This record gives sequence, C-alpha cells and structure tokens, in this order.
Amino acid sequence: MLLKLLRFYLRPHRGALLAILALQLVSTVAAMLLPGLTADVINKGLLAADSGAVVRLGLIMLVISAVQMGAQVATAYFAARTAARAGGAIRESVFAKVQRLSVAEVSEIGAPSLVTRSTNDVLQVQMVTLMGSMFIVSAPMMMIGGIVMAVLEDPPLSWLIVGAVPTLLAIMAGAIVLARPLFVVVQKRIDAINRLMREQVSGVRVIRAFNRQGTQRGTFEEASENLAGTQRRIGIVFGITFPLVQLVVMGGQVLVVWFGGLRVDAGAMEPGSIVAFLSYLMFIFMSVMFSVMMLIMVPRAEVCAGRIAEVLDVSPAIAPPAQAVAIGPRSEGRRIEFVDATFGYPGADEPVLDRISLTLQPGTTTAVVGSTGSGKTTLVNLLPRLLDVTDGELRFGGVDVRTAALGDLRSRVALVPQQAYLFGGTIRSTLSLGRGEVSDERLWQALEVAQGAGFVREYEEGLDHTVEPGGANFSGGQRQRLAIARALVHGGEVYAFDDAFSALDMATDARLRAALPTMTAGATTVVVAQRVSTIRDADQIVVLDEGRIAGLGTHEELMGDCETYREIVLSQLSEEEAA
Ligand SMILES: Nc1ncnc2c1ncn2[C@@H]1O[C@H](COP(=O)(O)OP(=O)(O)OP(=O)(O)O)[C@@H](O)[C@H]1O
Ligand SMILES: [Mg+2]
Repeated sequence: MLLKLLRFYLRPHRGALLAILALQLVSTVAAMLLPGLTADVINKGLLAADSGAVVRLGLIMLVISAVQMGAQVATAYFAARTAARAGGAIRESVFAKVQRLSVAEVSEIGAPSLVTRSTNDVLQVQMVTLMGSMFIVSAPMMMIGGIVMAVLEDPPLSWLIVGAVPTLLAIMAGAIVLARPLFVVVQKRIDAINRLMREQVSGVRVIRAFNRQGTQRGTFEEASENLAGTQRRIGIVFGITFPLVQLVVMGGQVLVVWFGGLRVDAGAMEPGSIVAFLSYLMFIFMSVMFSVMMLIMVPRAEVCAGRIAEVLDVSPAIAPPAQAVAIGPRSEGRRIEFVDATFGYPGADEPVLDRISLTLQPGTTTAVVGSTGSGKTTLVNLLPRLLDVTDGELRFGGVDVRTAALGDLRSRVALVPQQAYLFGGTIRSTLSLGRGEVSDERLWQALEVAQGAGFVREYEEGLDHTVEPGGANFSGGQRQRLAIARALVHGGEVYAFDDAFSALDMATDARLRAALPTMTAGATTVVVAQRVSTIRDADQIVVLDEGRIAGLGTHEELMGDCETYREIVLSQLSEEEAA
C-alpha cells in the first residue's frame, strides 16, 4: 500500500529522486575510501616516517571529505524537498476527496479519523519518504561495501564481521515482528483521542452545564493512558533492540582490536589496517542503525498509507455524471418535479421519503409542514443533490438532476440549511461564500431583506466584523439571518429555506417574508416551517407525514380536507384565527 501510494505521488519527482540516488552514491563511495587512506597514512606515512606522504595523503583525504559532505548536504536538501512536496500532494488529494464525500460516507470513516488521516498519517508517510530517500542506497551500500572492504583489507579478520552481520539482522527481524502490530493500534488510539478532544471542545458548554467535567476527564485520561501504554510497549521493543545492536558491534570492535593486535604482533598485518577495520565495522553498524530506524518507521507508515488509501479509494455516491445534460440558460425560476421520489438511508427498513410526487412552479412558494422527523429536511436536501433519490426521480427544469452537471445544479439552488453553519472569517466573506467578489450594495441589500442589516450596522467594522468558526460569536437568530442573507447573495433559480425562520420572533419573521420577494420574485421557493403564520399565504402547502404526502393544496383547501393539517393549525390558532 505504501509502495503503491509513493509510486504514484513520487512520479512527478523522478528527476529529484535520481539526483538523490546519484548523490548518495558519491557520498558513500567517498566515505568508503577514507578508512583505506587512513590506514595508508599510518602504514606508509607515520610508521615509515615519510612526512611528505602524510601531507599528500592528508590533502587527498581532505578533498574526499569535502566532496562527501557536499553530497550529503545536497542529498538532505533534495530529500526534504521531495518528501514535503509529495506529502503536500497526498494531503491535498485526501482533502479534495473528503470534500466530495456525502454525509453518510463521512460518518462511515468518522470525521475525527479523517482529520488524523489527513494530518498525522500523511506526516508519517512523508517522514518515511524523507528517511527512505536519504538512506535507501547508502545503507545497503555501506553494509556491503564495509564487508567487501574488510575482506580485502584482511581476509582472516573479516570472519568477525561475517559473524556479526547475521546476528544483527536477526535482532532487527525480531524487533519488527514485535513492533508491527503495535503500530496499527497506535494510529487507532490517536483517532480515539482526536474524537474525544473534538467532542469535548465542541460540547464544552453541555459538559459544564451537566457538570460532567470529572467523567469527561476520566474518559480522556483513559484514552490517553491507552495510547501511552502502546507507545511504551513500542519503546520497550526498540529500547532493547538498540543496546543489543550496540553490544554486538562494540563486541566486534573489541575482538578486532584483540585478534588484530595478535596478528600485528605476529607480523601478518599492518597496524593501520586495524584502524581501517574498525571504520568498516562502524559502517556496518551505521547501516544497521539506519535500517532499524527505517524499520521502525516503515510499518507505521504502511499502516498510515493503508488508512489514507481507504479515504482515497471511496468513490463518492453522489458523483457528477460522465456526460452532463445542460439544464438550460439561467432564468428567474425553474420548474421542479418530484416523480415518485423515494429516499431511504442505507440499511434502514423504512424509506424516509415514500413516493413523493410534487411539482413546484417558478414564481411560486411551496411550504412544507409536518411533524418532527417527517422528512422535510430530507426532501429539501434532494434539491442541490446533497442526497440522491433511491427510487423515482427529481427533475430540475425537466432534467433528471443526476444527469446535470453537479456544480451547475448547485449554483442554481440557494439553500438555507436547518443548522446554519457559518465559516470563520468576516461577515463579508461569510455572505459572499463561493461567489468571489460581491458588491457591498448587494451584500447590504441581502442583509436588509434578511433583517440583519440592523445588527450588522451596529458593528464598528460593519461588513468586516469577525465571524468565528461556526458563527459562535452570534446569537441563534443572528446566525439564521446571516445564513438567509448568504443564500440571497448566492442567488439562483430555486430558494430553499429549511426551518430558517424558526429562531426569529414573530414580527421579524413577518417583516422578512414581506421583504423576500424583492430578491426572490420569479424564483421557485420552498419554505419549511412549523409556524402557521409563516406558511398560510404560500401558493401551495405540502403536508408530510412519515415520509408521505398527507395533503397538498392551499391553506383554505387543506383546512377543509386534510385532518393532519387541521390538527397542526388548530394547535397554534383558534378556529376563527384559522379561517
Ligand atoms: N443520517 C441519517 N441516518 C439515518 N437516518 C436519518 C439520518 N438523518 C435523518 N434520518 C431519519 O430521517 C427521518 C427524517 O429526517 P428529517 O431530518 O428529514 O426530518 P425533518 O422533517 O426535517 O424533522 P425536523 O422537523 O425535526 O427538522 C428521521 O426519522 C430521521 O430519523
Ligand atoms: Mg428538519
């Protein structure tokens, strides 16, 4: 999974990768040459008392060291750049995919997990790319080069190295087998912490109001302790691995000095070779250390890559059609037809909307009423394809919405959702969301109609007043008015207000409805509301009951023939008021 992901995202950086490999080759070869030269300095220079040779060899060593250092710095630079770019590209892909997921698909993976995946998981992959590209050539080369050079330098002594290498490899293999399953657990536990943190921060008022700080802290501590426990176990594994590796290598050095000394005494080997030999042993040690480091990171990155791929592999259920049918030129309003429109959530037995047939004419207002859970929001969400019918059809100006270009369709529908979410920024950026530059005149006009101009005018900065994420610095009613203004600025052929007037007092509600036609005249308007006063003047009223149409007509017609509607009305008004 990791390889697949990297193969794809590193493809644009092939040039840089080749440069990294070449640079590693240069720096490793240079490093390999140094111990031999050191041995020569000792054997041919110092021991032969030839100071000319010492200077000559010293200068050569200096040049080689400079080359090696330059190559290493360049390697690190290119590796860091490539890894950061690839990581950025992966993060962008994950983000773009998440933007296209439907509500159901997001809740399947979980929003907190999506956050971890696009941050921490991507970072792990990025780190492994960095380390990998820095050592992928030099680590094995140092290992093999160290062995070869040692054998060339003094074959009998190299048996020590041949014995050390398999021991080291065995230790590493053991560490991986033990650590790998733990990494899967670690990423899951980070998810859990993320989920708790998110819930507790956004629910902080509820937690305080219900005095649950103690329990919440306990839950968090438990999750935190779980993560710490797993990481401790991983720490123990590698805490044992590193000293073991060191022990083997240091033991090897002791043996080199011991047996090398005996051989020098016997005249079978020159003293400088011992120094060279110790260096080769260090190469092998270093290559093993790099490998261990990689092996700590690779299994974790592997898990992360799997989690990232899981997101990238979702094919969003609500997708743009391959061949889009044009809806037609922009107009004032559009005829909307629900033809036996049925919608059920995946896995649910009963559909939430059951064979709804309904026509909304341009220039008219359709009100939707019904008890809680009767499917009003679901009905409205079908319009901009936040949901797709599971059966039947929704026609937008005669075109099945599933065959229309998604962006085009959505730009024609202005929706005020039941839960008005405002993005952080300023009032200006909130209102012109997705519309780019909008004239102040239009923003103020929308605010006037939405009955929001009054409170916005009171801010010193006016339109540039700060909006905190979620609109946290506004009251519920102010938020609703800003959301209505946002929809008015967005404009379009269809306006849908999902319970958008509920947080407004009666008088404001009435003023708003009176002002609306100045901006929405000619459009196709849908108003979901509970208040009879809000809906009684609508051109047609749809009464929903458990996902079915229980009545359809004007207020007067429904008062005569729809029992469900009469009940709703009479719960709010007296007989005379309703007439
Ligand atoms: N994400 C979901 N998964 C499963 N079922 C859902 C989901 N969202 C809503 N439902 C179900 O769909 C039904 C209709 O919900 P909907 O939000 O359309 O009701 P509503 O008429 O807008 O209610 P309200 O007046 O409270 O806003 C409800 O019974 C609810 O249980
Ligand atoms: Mg609703």
